[in-house]
Amino acid sequence: MSLESEDHALMEASLVALGDGYEGMAAELFDDLIAAHPQHAHAFLNPAAARERMTRETLEALLGLAEDAPWVATTVIDFIDLHRGYAPFTADDYADWFARVIVAMERRAGAAWPAAASGAWRRQAARLTALVAAELVRPALADEAV
Ligand code: HEM
Repeated sequence: MSLESEDHALMEASLVALGDGYEGMAAELFDDLIAAHPQHAHAFLNPAAARERMTRETLEALLGLAEDAPWVATTVIDFIDLHRGYAPFTADDYADWFARVIVAMERRAGAAWPAAASGAWRRQAARLTALVAAELVRPALADEAV
C-alpha cells in the first residue's frame, strides 16, 4: 500500500472511532475559530448555517486528497473562490483550521483514536495547505474571466 492509501485507511478508521463524538464538533470548532480570529469575526454572518457544511467538506477534502481523488483540485479552486468573498484568508488561516479540526477529533475520540491516524491527518492537511497556498496566489476566477 502506498503512503497515501495507508493514510486514507487510517483516516477512515479514525472517523469510525470518532463515531458519535462528531456530534456538536462543528459548533464547538466554529465558536473557537471565531474567538481565536476576532479580525475575521465580521465574515461569519451565519455560522450556525455554515459550520456543519464547512466541517464536513473539510474532512471530505482531506480524505479525498489522501486517495489522490481527481476532484480535490476543483474543490480547492471552488472553496478558495467562495472564501475570497468572505475575507482575505491566508494559507496560515487554512492550516490553523485544519489543525483545529484534527485536535478536536483526537480529543473527542479519546482512547478509541488510532495513534497513527494523527500523522495521516496532519500529512494530508500539510498537502491541502500547499494546494490552498498555490491557489491563493492565482487571480480570482471572476478577474480571470474579464
Ligand atoms: C478546506 C477548508 C474549508 C472548506 C472546505 C470550507 C467550506 C465552507 C463551506 C461549505 C461554507 C458554507 C457555505 C454556505 O453554506 O454557503 C463555508 C463558509 C465559511 N467559511 Fe469556510 N471552509 C474552509 C476553510 C475556511 C477557513 C480556514 C476560514 C477562515 C478562517 C473559513 C471561513 C468561512 C466563513 C467566514 C464562512 C461563512 C460563514 C457564515 O456565513 O457565517 N473557511 N466554508
